[in-house]
Amino acid sequence: MNPQTTPVTKPPVAASGASAGAAPSAVISRDPAVERRESGLTINRARKTFISAEGKQVKAIDDVSLAINSGEFFIMLGPSGCGKTTLLRSIGGMETLDAGEIYIGNQRIDQLPPYERPVNTVFQSYALFPHMSVADNVAFGLEMEKKPKSEIRSTVADMLDLVHLADMGARRPSQLSGGQQQRVALARALAKKPKVLLLDESLSALDFKLRRQMQTELKRIQRETGITFIFVTHDQEEALSMGDRIAVFHNGRPEQVGTPEEIYDKPVDRFVADFIGDINFLSATKTGPNEVSIAGQRFNADSSVLSHAVGEDLTAAIRPERIDVVPQGSPVAAGRPTLTGTVTDAMFMGFDTRVHITLEDGQTVMTRVAPPFDAELIKPASRVQLVIDGLVRVVE
Ligand SMILES: Nc1ncnc2c1ncn2[C@@H]1O[C@H](COP(=O)(O)OP(=O)(O)OP(=O)(O)O)[C@@H](O)[C@H]1O
Ligand SMILES: [Mg+2]
Repeated sequence: MNPQTTPVTKPPVAASGASAGAAPSAVISRDPAVERRESGLTINRARKTFISAEGKQVKAIDDVSLAINSGEFFIMLGPSGCGKTTLLRSIGGMETLDAGEIYIGNQRIDQLPPYERPVNTVFQSYALFPHMSVADNVAFGLEMEKKPKSEIRSTVADMLDLVHLADMGARRPSQLSGGQQQRVALARALAKKPKVLLLDESLSALDFKLRRQMQTELKRIQRETGITFIFVTHDQEEALSMGDRIAVFHNGRPEQVGTPEEIYDKPVDRFVADFIGDINFLSATKTGPNEVSIAGQRFNADSSVLSHAVGEDLTAAIRPERIDVVPQGSPVAAGRPTLTGTVTDAMFMGFDTRVHITLEDGQTVMTRVAPPFDAELIKPASRVQLVIDGLVRVVE
């Protein structure tokens, strides 16, 4: 392959794990069809305001309506303080809404005490009982409900099997690794067969590799049980790789709800575009019904320009991996508009190299090149040409 025309290698786009078609295990859902119909969660116009220590009103949940499907791996993603935990606690019953309703299936749950709600929570801190064995920890909720001994024994065995800890039931939590303790917490939460499982930053105490492993495990467990998972995180990579759908929260409300691909490729506004992944914001002007100009060059735009008038100044939002960079003077695809610029710096990131480029009009662009690439592309002061792959999206 001629390195002069080698396109920038694109990192794989996260797949939206499709839980819908997965076979639920008999362990949790004895009649999966019924379980699924009954376990969708609906939030209707929920509000919660706190008064801060300084006496200021904080709208932690600001008129939120959401419909989460049965058996869905649903992610609530957003920056610190955007209301994720407050909403999760309101579903679990640890927090009371000021207004609004929460339903699971047709059952209104927001006025029920926590223990009557068919939900359970996995906390970041695991909250295991240190003096009890793993098996007793998992059995705890069932013991409290005074379930028959034989049922408890078989559920505990099923749950430990599910989280791959079948041979560790006799250990104490202190004799387990962080990841194993997390699995016990999960087994304990699932033992009561909740319709909805709430997970608040549940993996954030784990180191990077273990976290990746547990993400895969959680997806498997969710698929096998068919239980609706609502998972809170502020890690966008975790959200993209795990969620069937993601709600991106900002200031107490979801700014966008969609599949990982929708959120990544079609962000509805600048906040979402900026929060998820790397992105370039470039000044653009609408020059035709489906066309924008950037630094004097015309590009085809996607449906996001339709609501704007010709002549309007806009912001184009372009992911680095959609920008192919080639040395100036290279043959590029015939008829494709190109931008020209100068490399200002390059940063080696392992898998690829981030290249910063200043365009003719002074705007800066970040793109990535992965080997094999022409050495010119990462040399400061090199003159380069940029080709935008696909349609240009604009944001407010
Ligand atoms: N008990 C409380 N009293 C007063 N303010 C609160 C209380 N709980 C939460 N808040 C405020 O409500 C807002 C939302 O908090 P919340 O804990 O839900 O955010 P979060 O999205 O979970 O953030 P993080 O990612 O940091 O966990 C924040 O401004 C927070 O300071
Ligand atoms: Mg929180």
